[in-house]
Amino acid sequence: MRRILVTGATGQVGSELTPALRRRYGADHVVAAGHRTAPTSALREAGPFVVLDVRDAAALAEVVRRHEIDTIFHLAALLSAVAEADPPRAWEINMQGLVNVLEVARAHRCAVFFPSSIAAFGPETPLARTPQVTIQRPHTIYGVTKVAGELLCNYYHRHFGVDTRGVRYPGLISAVAKPGGGTTDYAVEIFYAANEGRVFTCPLKPDTALAMMYMDDALRAAIELMEADPARLTDRNAFNLAAMSFTPAEIAAAIKEQVPGFAMVYEIDPLRQGIAEGWPASLDDSAARQQWGWQPAYDLAATVREMLTRLAATSASRGER
Ligand code: SER
Repeated sequence: MRRILVTGATGQVGSELTPALRRRYGADHVVAAGHRTAPTSALREAGPFVVLDVRDAAALAEVVRRHEIDTIFHLAALLSAVAEADPPRAWEINMQGLVNVLEVARAHRCAVFFPSSIAAFGPETPLARTPQVTIQRPHTIYGVTKVAGELLCNYYHRHFGVDTRGVRYPGLISAVAKPGGGTTDYAVEIFYAANEGRVFTCPLKPDTALAMMYMDDALRAAIELMEADPARLTDRNAFNLAAMSFTPAEIAAAIKEQVPGFAMVYEIDPLRQGIAEGWPASLDDSAARQQWGWQPAYDLAATVREMLTRLAATSASRGER
């Protein structure tokens, strides 16, 4: 990895992965690409930034050529709930975007990181300690694009020798960029409510368990996987990743231990509840552990501590508290 392109650099993962990559490989070696013209000034000023719509294959190829890119972290995508509102648009962005990335990677011999998700599974999948290889029949368009994306990455590796590597992320929790329209977003929003002293309205039922991960683990996983010895990687679609599993009731209780006045009410969103019921509560990540030494660092208690500390610090620096 000498010259890196990050698509979706202004999104939930990209806003933190881009600075992490810049710290590791040098700011000039990491080109951030976003569809928005107004990224955070930190992202724009800290290194090269280009406005790019991944649906535009010619523009993507031009960026890769001009910056002599050899590795693409392809993060641009719509999340589950917004994708459900406009399936053709989700297909175009999530699927055509990936096809464009894989084609440019084939032409320019780039390695590709593709984030799949717990959404690549469905109600017929065993949802506790979901195996690496199992039934994948998602009911969401987002999940359909993730399964197709995993298979496509495998295909490009097998047939064209493209160095594709991917993970199946659990719901991601971070104090930097909020997710936009996903199903696991509640586990981020809940911390903002707790930090601001607001009652949190939870869209999922109290006992809906989902696999989750703190962002620092997610970033480290992406970097460690891309640095792993390719000879050891036999799964070229996407590796299950595990860190923690909790229900809304459990995360609320963990927050209450730190913020005694915290209160939560439930107002179930049928769309998100339906989606969540088809997603794993936990994942078996032994393939990732064996093939590239994956090891999570944050459990629920550590995540709650970090999130509340970071959000309080952000509020304090803005003079809000
Ligand atoms: N966190 C995503 C979502 O909720 C799943 O990958 O849509």
